[in-house]
Amino acid sequence: MKPFIYIFLFSLFTVSCHSQTKTSERPVVGGPCEGCEAIYEYGERLLASVDTLPNFTTTEPKLRISGKVYHMDGKTPAANVILYIYQTNRAGLYATLGNETGWARRHGYIRGWIKTDKQGQYTFYTFRPGAYPGGTEPEHIHITVKEPDKNEYYIDDYVFDDDPLLTDKKRRAMSNRSGSGIVQPIEKEGIFVVERNIILGLNIPDY
Ligand SMILES: [Fe+2]
Repeated sequence: MKPFIYIFLFSLFTVSCHSQTKTSERPVVGGPCEGCEAIYEYGERLLASVDTLPNFTTTEPKLRISGKVYHMDGKTPAANVILYIYQTNRAGLYATLGNETGWARRHGYIRGWIKTDKQGQYTFYTFRPGAYPGGTEPEHIHITVKEPDKNEYYIDDYVFDDDPLLTDKKRRAMSNRSGSGIVQPIEKEGIFVVERNIILGLNIPDY
């Protein structure tokens, strides 16, 4: 009986150590990233390749953001990659309800998570974010990536080609991490469709 108890206790110990290192490890690829660990804040929910962000049904203009995630060769679909996005509301604020914990206090509650399917496909239903009030920063949606065998890292924000705040200077200064984040919204039946493919590791330091 005793050896069984020891094995049980040992497994409990290793499981808890594993879950600790998941969030406290220093990033190995992608450089420093404040708040990237928010990608683990999906709690108990089972991730699918499609997610709908809060306030989608009540907010315009609506967006459907989708694409494929590829490995470094740009051809092989990458399955089981977690994507985390967060964005401002139409007023340009990272909206909170007041009961947030963790990174939601900074990122707000308008955020979502997906896990790519076997074809590397992902889709988010959301709405177009507002620019920060009184600022010059273009409208943007932040995105963080977690591959099964790598630490989490951020890639270029989604920004909109038709945004007047997206100046030539800002376009030239982009890092194009995992490819360009500039998207062209196209209206189809009341929703603005946006396509962006993601190439894992492209322009990511130490990848
Ligand atoms: Fe932001």
